[in-house]
Amino acid sequence: MTRGRFITFEGGEGAGKSTQVRRLVEDLRASGIDVVQTREPGGSTGAEAIRALVVSGEADRWSARTEALLMFASRSDHLEKTIRPALQAGSWVVCDRFADSSRAYQGAGGGAEPAFIEALERAVVGADQPDLTLILDLPVAVGLERALGRGQTDTRFESKGLAFHQRLRDGFGEIARRFPERCRMIDATGSPDDVYSRVRAVVDPIL
Ligand code: TMP
Repeated sequence: MTRGRFITFEGGEGAGKSTQVRRLVEDLRASGIDVVQTREPGGSTGAEAIRALVVSGEADRWSARTEALLMFASRSDHLEKTIRPALQAGSWVVCDRFADSSRAYQGAGGGAEPAFIEALERAVVGADQPDLTLILDLPVAVGLERALGRGQTDTRFESKGLAFHQRLRDGFGEIARRFPERCRMIDATGSPDDVYSRVRAVVDPIL
């Protein structure tokens, strides 16, 4: 059985990842590919339970280090229960956020040391890196306005302030430069249709 492809979407708040993930998954399925759509934190029963701890409450509820441990605990369960079995069965996995979010949010944004995050990543993710990572990039003010305008109730990360979100955006830029073989920056300004055509321009060559 050929291993499936592993595609992740990344980006700051309000970048429109969920819409793009949904559209890509629908189109891949329509073209006959078996696809598991999932998200982080979450994507398995245990990981969703941990998600509830990290996305709600006060902005300073967890330190960046503790938050990283919670994210990697949820990721470990998600990999064991959902991602690895799907890839091994030949399905593609399209995931809304993955380990780059920990580098960006807990590392660049929150100040956890890169070596700490990288040690967790080596231990938990190992060789199961994404084949392709699309980083949706948007000016911080535009993204936060979109995210807060959605009226969602779990707003712990959205409430962390502009400087945090600017470090986050810079952090994703740094990730794209550091891992050019798997990362592609996507301009997330404009309509969902505009952004989706940029997504397809990157995904189509690997189909
Ligand atoms: P979502 O809004 O994209 O569903 O993600 C939930 C929040 O979790 C989002 O604000 C980003 C944050 N997050 C991290 O801080 N670190 C991580 O490793 C992941 C996967 C998400």
